[in-house]
Amino acid sequence: MTPTSRTTFGAHSTVADVLAGIDLTGKTVIVTGGHSGLGLSTTRALAGAGARVVVPARRVDAARQTLSDLDGVEVDFCDLAERGSVRAFADQFVGTHDAVDIVIANAGIMACPETRVGPGWEAQFATNHLGHYALVNLLRPALVSSGRARVVVVASGYNPASRIRWDDVQFTREYDKWAAYAQSKLANVLFARHLDVLGRSVGVRAFAISPGYILTPLQRHLATEEMVAAGWIDVDGTPTAGLFETREQGAATQVWAATSPQLDECGGRYCVDCTVVDGFAGTIDDEEAAHLWRLSAELTGIDNFNSDSSVPTVSLPHEFGGGDAAAVDKGRGQ
Ligand SMILES: NC(=O)c1ccc[n+]([C@@H]2O[C@H](COP(=O)([O-])OP(=O)(O)OC[C@H]3O[C@@H](n4cnc5c(N)ncnc54)[C@H](OP(=O)(O)O)[C@@H]3O)[C@@H](O)[C@H]2O)c1
Repeated sequence: MTPTSRTTFGAHSTVADVLAGIDLTGKTVIVTGGHSGLGLSTTRALAGAGARVVVPARRVDAARQTLSDLDGVEVDFCDLAERGSVRAFADQFVGTHDAVDIVIANAGIMACPETRVGPGWEAQFATNHLGHYALVNLLRPALVSSGRARVVVVASGYNPASRIRWDDVQFTREYDKWAAYAQSKLANVLFARHLDVLGRSVGVRAFAISPGYILTPLQRHLATEEMVAAGWIDVDGTPTAGLFETREQGAATQVWAATSPQLDECGGRYCVDCTVVDGFAGTIDDEEAAHLWRLSAELTGIDNFNSDSSVPTVSLPHEFGGGDAAAVDKGRGQ
């Protein structure tokens, strides 16, 4: 992995560091999951810099209570795992806002027991990827109205060995909670890649980021023994020294990717530690990214960034047929 010089920040930079001197007055931002963990640090920081922040949340009352001390923050119902809910949120947003300047696709679930949502979709793929795919597509009019919009997709550590399981993307066979999470996070990277290809001519640029390792409610599905075995905590629950960043450090890369003037005229990139990482450029497969877009369009029935808005039929070509989910490096966890 080769960090570029396109940053003045690093692994220990915080949201406050990356926003120093940046005034977001007049900007409208959507932060999915913006009331918990990294999303909460993101919402606080962006609102503190003057942005009006809209938080789509499935637990509206809890989100409103958590964010009640912040000015300029609004919470609206949206369950990313339910297509009708995503559409209702997007329709309401587009009908009541002139534009959205930044969307941070931050919400996510990790390593949950096998769960089916909507028409039987695997919950991590549906929530982490398909929900954000649908949301961003449905927000297209507001993104285009910005004239200069950024979409930041919160992925995870990028592993070139990770695969989309093209022949069984919903994990109907041999569900593996880590392989399904890794697939959803690779989908986040590929989604940002192709969104930038389709969006740049209308002023919409996209980035994927990895936040690092941060203790948050994301780990709710992991037993203590599993976290001890992974070396994250000791048997008393004490985090391993030096492994985890603070939430303000973990959220810094998504805030940086959303706001930094250093990224003007740039997009489709993967960022870690407030840095564009060039080393993976050749391993993020543009054909796979385009194929995932077509598959997502067919599954959701939504495809608003292609000029021909009719949703294509997706066949699974031979070259995409052999995704080996078992090749996912489970040890990477988050
Ligand atoms: N923490 C890490 O070390 C780490 C590492 C790599 C990547 N990430 C990524 O960072 C992002 C933020 O994670 P976090 O650590 O901040 O976790 P978190 O505190 O659990 O926040 C996740 C948020 O997503 C929301 N969410 C989950 N399912 C949803 C749904 N169906 N509809 C709407 N919202 C939903 C949650 O809402 P509820 O409060 O209702 O559950 C919560 O607000 C995730 O995408 C995660 O994969 C985190």
